[in-house]
Amino acid sequence: MTRIDVRRLLVLPAALVLLGSMLGSVCEDEVIVEVERPFFEDPPAMAVGFLGYDEEAANLTVCGNCHIGVQSEWEDTAHADAWQSLIGSGSAQPFCENCHAVSQNGNLTETDGGWATTQDSRYHDVQCENCHGPGEAHANNPDASQPIAQASVGLDLDTGCGECHQGTHHPFVEEWEASPHSGVVGFAAARESCAPCHRGQTSIERFGSNADYTEKFDSEPLAVVCVVCHDPHADNNEHQLRLPVNTTSIETHLCSQCHNRRTAPDPNSSHGLEPHSPESALLIGEAGWFPPGADIGLGQIRGSHGSDANPELCATCHLSEFTVTDAATGGFAFSATGHLFRPIPCVDASGIPEGFETDCDLAPPARTYESCTGGPCHGDQQAAFSALTAASTRIQGLADELEELLEEVDPNGEDPGGEIDPTNPTFTVAEGAFFNHALALFGNEDFGTFSVIGSSAHNPFLMEALLIASIDVVEEEYGVMNSLGVVDWDAELQMVKARVGR
Ligand code: HEC
Ligand code: HEC
Ligand code: HEC
Ligand code: HEC
Ligand code: HEC
Ligand code: HEC
Ligand code: HEC
Ligand code: HEC
Repeated sequence: MTRIDVRRLLVLPAALVLLGSMLGSVCEDEVIVEVERPFFEDPPAMAVGFLGYDEEAANLTVCGNCHIGVQSEWEDTAHADAWQSLIGSGSAQPFCENCHAVSQNGNLTETDGGWATTQDSRYHDVQCENCHGPGEAHANNPDASQPIAQASVGLDLDTGCGECHQGTHHPFVEEWEASPHSGVVGFAAARESCAPCHRGQTSIERFGSNADYTEKFDSEPLAVVCVVCHDPHADNNEHQLRLPVNTTSIETHLCSQCHNRRTAPDPNSSHGLEPHSPESALLIGEAGWFPPGADIGLGQIRGSHGSDANPELCATCHLSEFTVTDAATGGFAFSATGHLFRPIPCVDASGIPEGFETDCDLAPPARTYESCTGGPCHGDQQAAFSALTAASTRIQGLADELEELLEEVDPNGEDPGGEIDPTNPTFTVAEGAFFNHALALFGNEDFGTFSVIGSSAHNPFLMEALLIASIDVVEEEYGVMNSLGVVDWDAELQMVKARVGR
């Protein structure tokens, strides 16, 4: 495309957009405008090439003179007010500043720069160059090189979101690193059908961004990093999320994009009897094998956890933020960010979450039930714990009954030959029941005997109903009976349904 010497000419700002559109934009989904005036003052020599603001009062970055699309998104984010929050807090100290200003933090620059070396107010706030690095060379000649941002995150990295979003006051990286979202299942990331959920790069693209970042074309897969869930520029959804969490629509909810894979048996797959991230469908009453003839409609049994009573669905329980006050001193000790994605994490004596894979007693105070309380939810932590154990005891009991029956029907289990045989395309009643049993027990080996905790929280009513209906149909189909003897399973099912929504 034609390029104009950006530092030489002078035109009125109103003409800029028009000129930009006449020249055409360079990137597919971004408007870049050719600017024809000396739009930035040379940065101080000590700045190491960081440009910062063109007009601080208007939050207009030098970059934003050309990248007007990104500029108009970014200026509405919290990053654009970071300096004001720091000063407004009344507790600003010099060591706070480099995370609230343009500096070496967040980018590849290894020496101090920007605010750190100049204390010039053009570097106030978390601007483009925090993530993209110094832009002087690029602004002077956009074609020569581009400051591409990084998507990787980790405590051992001196770049990316994590360089600022860490520490006891906001340990996002610490918690995220301890969560399974920081892990990659290698063989799954490498396969095309699995990559949309198991390879960070593919997820970012799927969530609508074609933008360039350093790792975009790496063969090494990214995990579910910050920018998979968070848009680095736009605040279209709360907390800069790429998709909302304040919605009860499974189609649009962020978490359901991945946590919704094999939610019903698939006779055409060798893994067809194993649920695969079934949580979303379970929450809204659509997961599992619905025995033909059983009085359960798809989506009919949806408890309050999957209803408007819980407007953020997964996020209410799985992103539980809270601060822990140090009992000894009364001083602020720690801020849990919810980025362990654990709804009821084990906590130490002072209430600080102890990582993801911990296995403590289910009862509070060994675990915190903070996420279950407040608003229209459970009155207190003990009440939430009681409700969960009551549901899980019932579900575990029914799962055990069903297992007993299935062992009679097919002592061989899921091995080839017999009623339960994933390699045989003929779908049997026993296989449907087997799937429902696996759905009840899905996830969380960490809970040991309490392995039905997830399903008990997600949809205890549907889980009970499916197990009851499965027991009923297996007894009928195969003429078997377990130690309970004759039970009116239809009546049991109606009793479960009567409890929904109460
Ligand atoms: C003088 C106008 C101008 C300024 C100022 C400017 N850019 Fe650019 N930028 C461009 C143009 C034009 C391109 C496309 C370059 C190309 O591909 O040849 C570009 C490309 C980019 C790209 C790569 C986009 C891609 O598709 O890979 C990034 C990232 C970028 N700019 C960031 C910045 C940042 C950060 C700043 C501020 C430090 C900045 N730009 C300042 C004009 C500008
Ligand atoms: C390691 C980088 C880093 C340092 C050092 C740092 N901050 Fe922050 N600060 C952050 C990040 C990241 C956030 C955003 C956290 C969030 O949104 O939960 C933040 C948020 C804030 C907020 C806004 C909180 C709100 O209401 O949302 C204030 C105020 C603040 N910091 C003040 C300070 C003060 C005062 C200091 C020094 C005593 C300090 N920060 C040191 C990174 C830092
Ligand atoms: C230079 C330090 C720094 C870097 C790098 C940085 N942040 Fe922040 N971030 C902050 C600070 C400081 C705040 C708090 C701003 C405020 O509340 O005034 C913040 C706030 C946020 C918020 C809170 C928005 C809200 O509405 O609650 C989100 C989300 C966020 N950052 C995500 C990211 C992501 C994603 C990245 C990487 C792509 C990133 N940040 C990189 C310092 C940083
Ligand atoms: C919190 C970190 C962060 C901040 C602040 C930030 N960016 Fe980015 N930017 C990124 C990341 C990460 C990507 C690549 C991933 C994406 O956009 O989805 C990116 C992508 C881009 C691209 C590439 C677009 C394309 O189509 O390839 C441009 C241009 C860009 N940013 C410009 C800017 C400008 C201009 C600003 C300031 C107004 C800014 N960025 C602020 C992190 C950031
Ligand atoms: C799996 C998706 C996901 C990933 C990965 C993720 N987040 Fe978040 N984050 C969320 C959700 C959802 C919320 C909003 C929680 C809510 O509304 O209750 C959030 C909220 C935030 C907030 C705002 C918190 C506040 O109230 O101030 C910040 C800051 C943030 N995340 C930073 C990060 C950083 C940094 C990373 C990477 C280390 C990261 N996130 C990774 C989903 C994610
Ligand atoms: C881009 C896809 C993706 C998104 C979006 C996503 N996840 Fe995940 N999640 C995964 C993958 C993949 C794993 C398993 C990673 C592994 O085991 O290596 C996982 C694991 C988890 C786990 C741990 C499961 C266990 O083993 O106990 C929880 C809890 C979780 N996610 C909750 C959430 C919540 C809540 C959200 C929404 C805020 C969310 N996820 C959004 C892909 C995603
Ligand atoms: C729609 C998104 C999605 C797709 C597509 C997907 N998965 Fe998953 N997978 C997940 C989620 C989410 C989890 C986390 C498990 C959970 O929900 O508890 C997971 C978990 C796993 C695990 C267990 C990880 C662990 O740490 O225990 C393996 C293995 C796995 N997936 C392999 C695959 C393979 C192989 C494929 C492709 C054939 C695939 N996945 C396709 C979303 C998906
Ligand atoms: C009412 C609270 C609540 C809601 C809503 C909720 N969960 Fe859970 N979830 C739990 C509890 C409790 C566990 C079991 C304890 C644990 O894993 O830490 C769990 C377990 C999980 C697990 C581990 C595997 C499994 O299935 O047991 C994943 C993954 C998960 N939830 C994802 C989600 C997703 C995705 C959503 C939204 C579609 C969601 N959860 C909604 C409370 C909830």
